[in-house]
Amino acid sequence: MDVIVAGDRAGLVKARRTLSIGPGGATLALVPTMGALHEGHRSLIRLARERADHVAVSVFVNPLQFGPGEDFSRYPRTFDGDLETCADEGVSVVFAPSAEDMYAPGRQVGVSAGPMGAVVEGEFRPGHLDGVLTVVLKLFNLIRPDVAVFGRKDAQQLAVIRRMVADLDVPVTVVGAPTVREADGLALSSRNRYLSPHDRHAALALSRALLAGAGRRTPAEIRRAARDVLEAEPGLSVDYLVLVDPATFTEVGDDHRGEAVLAVAGRVGSTRLIDNVTVGL
Ligand code: PAJ
Repeated sequence: MDVIVAGDRAGLVKARRTLSIGPGGATLALVPTMGALHEGHRSLIRLARERADHVAVSVFVNPLQFGPGEDFSRYPRTFDGDLETCADEGVSVVFAPSAEDMYAPGRQVGVSAGPMGAVVEGEFRPGHLDGVLTVVLKLFNLIRPDVAVFGRKDAQQLAVIRRMVADLDVPVTVVGAPTVREADGLALSSRNRYLSPHDRHAALALSRALLAGAGRRTPAEIRRAARDVLEAEPGLSVDYLVLVDPATFTEVGDDHRGEAVLAVAGRVGSTRLIDNVTVGL
């Protein structure tokens, strides 16, 4: 069946009716995206298809989650290709609203990510995670999915979304999906298309550092091994390298047991990239 493209609220209501989605009817899984779809997004769609009768993909470059001076205006927009990808992957509905549709004039209320919104990514991108939560909650309310799939590539985003769903009793099941990488380790990202061959080479230090860290046993050894790799790459300017609790994103101590997330962010040229791995302690 063809993909139904919904451009606004009315389109979504119609799509839900056409597909008999709702209580006693078909189930729906949502994959929220900002478009410029790649293999990472495709893997989320495939996971979503296993979890529900129909999959909806939202394509919306959310102005609220970009800070001043960030790449909102130059963020890649490839809607025709995205639609083909969705058709190819058996997506039932693509929701692609305009910014005017999503944010009515006079808007005042948003979601706060709380303390987790101010650490790690939040320290370098103030307000970013609030902007993410606000749009994600709006997407949940508009599309009303049973399940929503997010990538572990954005581990802190996934953690704050889980927190929001728990703290605000949002009726959706959140599923985390593994990070898809290029053969050489680089995590797929819509922003990779900004990279020159030279930048791309420097960017590889991110995944190499995580791999080096993940091979060690104690928090101190993990941090040291990862930092050594990052320091050896002059083309990369590091924003942070942290070893944190996956649920709270606070730094773990030497006595931490269980899982931890080794997360890194850095800039190559004007492109900012993030990556992480989960390590067992
Ligand atoms: P975007 O960057 O388009 O990512 C959409 C989803 O794809 C996110 O859940 C992200 O974690 C996941 N993803 C990105 N790269 C991936 C990779 N290499 N492997 C696996 N999954 C990957 O994240 C956003 O958009 C926005 O913040 C959004 C949640 C849509 C809110 O605006």
